[in-house]
Amino acid sequence: MGLTALCPGTFDPVTNGHLDVVGRAAQLFDSVIVGVVENPSKTPLFSVEERVRLLEESVKDLSNVRVGSFRGLLVDHARAQGASVIVKGLRAISDYEYEIQMAQMNQRIGELDTLFMATSPKWSFLSSSLVKEVASYGGDVEGLVPDHVRKLLIDRLVDA
Ligand SMILES: Nc1ncnc2c1ncn2[C@@H]1O[C@H](COP(=O)(O)OP(=O)(O)OP(=O)(O)O)[C@@H](O)[C@H]1O
Ligand SMILES: [Mg+2]
Repeated sequence: MGLTALCPGTFDPVTNGHLDVVGRAAQLFDSVIVGVVENPSKTPLFSVEERVRLLEESVKDLSNVRVGSFRGLLVDHARAQGASVIVKGLRAISDYEYEIQMAQMNQRIGELDTLFMATSPKWSFLSSSLVKEVASYGGDVEGLVPDHVRKLLIDRLVDA
């Protein structure tokens, strides 16, 4: 059995920045699990089933990547899935403060290590929130998210 990495996030919705990290992780590890956090503390635009489906469509050409969802502790999900490392993208110093706390807590409570992958500069400005905000005002998000995500985003925001 090889090394499995877990890439967790809300993915509401998945962006090309997320996919860049997942794709690079898929080249480094034997397998990658994308873990969609159900996250009851946020009110997502897309249901967990929709977020999983959008991700599945986005990674369908990556044979060693699979997508699932979880609630509760990340360390429990990682253990249950046989993942021995967490991989997260770091965009800017603003991500660092929260991420380092989470990483240290997960090491403490689950002896689970987190590896940070530097974001490609072309995606360093990109977040799901910003994509939703721009799209909600009719801005063009082409090239920032996969096409099937963009279509659903527009449908959802126009219907809203
Ligand atoms: N553009 C990006 N490049 C690389 N990593 C990213 C990018 N956007 C998010 N990530 C990473 O993906 C993981 C999941 O992030 P999350 O689901 O919070 O996405 P987000 O785009 O930050 O969404 P939100 O705006 O809702 O916080 C985090 O580790 C985050 O740092
Ligand atoms: Mg975020």
